Amino acid sequence: MYKLDQTKTPLFDALLEYYNNNTIPFHVPGHKKGDGMLNKFKEFVGTNVLSIDVTVFKQVDSLHKPTGAIKAAQELAADAYNADYTFFSIHGTSGAIQAMIMSVVTQGEKIIIPRNVHKSVTAGVILSGATPVYMQPEIHEEVGVALNVTPETVRKTLELHSDAKAVLIVNPTYYGVSTDIKKIADIVHEYNIPLIVDEAHGPHLQFNNRLPISGMNAGADICAQSTHKIVGSMTQSSMLQVRKGFVDVNRVKTVMSLLQTTSPSYILLASLDAARMQLATEGKELLDETIELASYARERINKIKGFYCFGAEVLKKSAAYDFDPTKITITSKELGLSGYEVERILAEKYFIQPEMSDLYNILCVFSFGDTKEKVDSLINALEEISRNQDYEAARSIQIINMPHIPESVLTPREAFNSKAVSMPLVDSLGQISAEFLMAYPPGIPILCPGEIITKEIVTYVQELKNANLYVQGTEDPEVVNIKVVSDLQLQNL
Ligand SMILES: Cc1ncc(COP(=O)(O)O)c(C=O)c1O
Repeated sequence: MYKLDQTKTPLFDALLEYYNNNTIPFHVPGHKKGDGMLNKFKEFVGTNVLSIDVTVFKQVDSLHKPTGAIKAAQELAADAYNADYTFFSIHGTSGAIQAMIMSVVTQGEKIIIPRNVHKSVTAGVILSGATPVYMQPEIHEEVGVALNVTPETVRKTLELHSDAKAVLIVNPTYYGVSTDIKKIADIVHEYNIPLIVDEAHGPHLQFNNRLPISGMNAGADICAQSTHKIVGSMTQSSMLQVRKGFVDVNRVKTVMSLLQTTSPSYILLASLDAARMQLATEGKELLDETIELASYARERINKIKGFYCFGAEVLKKSAAYDFDPTKITITSKELGLSGYEVERILAEKYFIQPEMSDLYNILCVFSFGDTKEKVDSLINALEEISRNQDYEAARSIQIINMPHIPESVLTPREAFNSKAVSMPLVDSLGQISAEFLMAYPPGIPILCPGEIITKEIVTYVQELKNANLYVQGTEDPEVVNIKVVSDLQLQNL
């Protein structure tokens, strides 16, 4: 099992010791354990949390050069996650992903990524100056969401771009769908390059074998995880798991240090230490309970007229190799309401806030912070919404075949750094886009910065609009105009 004593919380303990010593703070932050702060705020948040809001000194260690409590806390996390090294991130997974990309590619090198990545991947590509090669994910046509990329897609893309320096996948997706990552890791390693994983939605996978396999266990080389999203740490706190071999660990260390603030929140860091301890010591049981609760919810929701909540049957799709049952995607298309409308009703009438919504779905994230009582409130609200609904308006899902990925003539970094002007989309054929254009569903870009605008794309946007589907991403919310690169004398490259 574990090599280290996972009941320990060295960083949290160092902060408790500082608290118990009643140390007089002549250090930043200026609120000095809350004494120099607005009372209304202090009384609401409580003095305990303020008294451990400290800065870098020996007793509590340094995130940038850890030698004590933070080093020990990161080593425990690496042990728990089957990694060689763990780096704590207080810039969320966004910061960890940027660092992960900058660790494996630099200016002009190719990185293979899915087309529908989170903006932090784009940020990493811009910062590194790398050239992205896109893979198209599969689409679930009944619920209108992007699934994942298949091992075959990864293999084919690598065959065409054998000079790529890394492959990135998102696993599992926001909706909990994972691909055959073990197979993908093997394919990627045949090319002697690293597989790096946006595992924002998978910090719990390691701790229960009823969940999809974790990136580290599947052979991935770096995984960026939003500990704060799914398990018990505080917002903005994430981890980067690293395996040595295909990546240079010193480079990861340097880039993490380059990108992160020199004033990290010790509250966030200690919450990572506590979350890891909770997962390692009782994660399996807690996740068993969460899985049971989610199965109960899925079963009940699937009996409500107008709603559908996909489950293990999604695995029949080629890009869905495994599935995280704690993600509850509730499709409302049979109800005649959009996901956005259901979210608004839940929030405004029932004070129930889902994680997000799209045209046809709402997504509810379950964790071990949930109870049957809370889940029953959600089910009761959905039942009432269903009873009050006029089914005449029921919609059918329309997914129009996406255009081909257009030719790219500038890297995202070059497009980002060049001058741009706005012009009517219909007149922009042959121009280089300076913006993204996304189609919903399924939320996959049809155009990325640096790509040539084609007739097929302009026609497709018109078809989406005619079908009352969403297209967005441009500065102009109506997508009548688009920003295009106006100056090929590129700036500040
Ligand atoms: C797939 C994916 N990757 C990365 C991120 C960024 O994570 P964070 O919010 O921790 O910065 C998100 C956030 O929603 C995400 O959904």
